[in-house]
Amino acid sequence: MSNKLGFMGCGEMASAIIKGLLSSGFMHTSDIHATTHTDKSASAKSKILKIKVITNNKDIAKDSEIIVLATKPNQIEEVLQEIKNEVNGKLIISIAAGVSTAKIENIVDKSPVVRVMPNTPMLVSEGMCGICLGKLATEKEEKFVTEMLSQVGKVVTVTEEQIDIVTAISGSGPAFFYQIFEDIAQAGAKLGLDYEKALILALQTAIGSAKMVQNTTKTVPELVASVATKGGCTEVGVSEMKALNSSNLFAEVIRKTAEKAHALG
Ligand SMILES: NC(=O)c1ccc[n+]([C@@H]2O[C@H](COP(=O)([O-])OP(=O)(O)OC[C@H]3O[C@@H](n4cnc5c(N)ncnc54)[C@H](OP(=O)(O)O)[C@@H]3O)[C@@H](O)[C@H]2O)c1
Repeated sequence: MSNKLGFMGCGEMASAIIKGLLSSGFMHTSDIHATTHTDKSASAKSKILKIKVITNNKDIAKDSEIIVLATKPNQIEEVLQEIKNEVNGKLIISIAAGVSTAKIENIVDKSPVVRVMPNTPMLVSEGMCGICLGKLATEKEEKFVTEMLSQVGKVVTVTEEQIDIVTAISGSGPAFFYQIFEDIAQAGAKLGLDYEKALILALQTAIGSAKMVQNTTKTVPELVASVATKGGCTEVGVSEMKALNSSNLFAEVIRKTAEKAHALG
């Protein structure tokens, strides 16, 4: 058995993971190969990633020790039916949103399955993944997948019931933060600052604030209080956020997104 990682599908998300695995040195170009649907995208991806990319799922599955399902969710079943005789108990990692481990296990019942909810900041090696284990996956598979995905960001293990919440917070989360950056930059522009400068201010403040939360022993409310000192302008801004019920706004954003993620499954 070879120790190759075989990606079924090599789009945006698979490419981000592959780039991270290669640039970190965790894997070499000869350790990873992949498939796409069309010859055109196979040769384009092969050139970009410098790995073997073909359109034959069976061949790649046969020649892999670990299989990563990375097509769109509605293509997973068809791909699994195609490769099921080549799987033979190999570890299956699925990054498809909304596809349960049980659905995969129904087709390849001898395989340990690890379901992953990744996000696009993996493209800049700042990804966030939530993972959950199928019924045959053990600590060994959890450890391997965690180590692998840690090359392109951070990883937390959750239960499968919690994965929709992960989808809402970190899978969809980048879009929420982009929207907040846009809203803040537009607000700055409305008051007379250049949009580009307002955006730089918002972005760097977000990066710095996230690093503060990561690197201090203070709690998040303590950090808020440390900037929003009594009688100052920040206190006025924080009070306005409370008056506009920002916590309710985000509770609803996360709840509705998680509900939709659940409905997709
Ligand atoms: N993008 C995100 O932000 C995000 C976040 C979390 C999870 N995900 C999950 O990641 C998965 C991939 O998403 P993506 O954004 O990377 O999609 P994508 O860019 O559209 O890539 C899909 C890939 O699957 C290939 N493909 C289609 N049918 C196939 C088949 N029958 N056999 C083999 N390969 C096939 C496509 O090849 P062609 O190019 O030749 O068509 C393409 O390489 C999805 O299941 C999604 O739920 C994505």
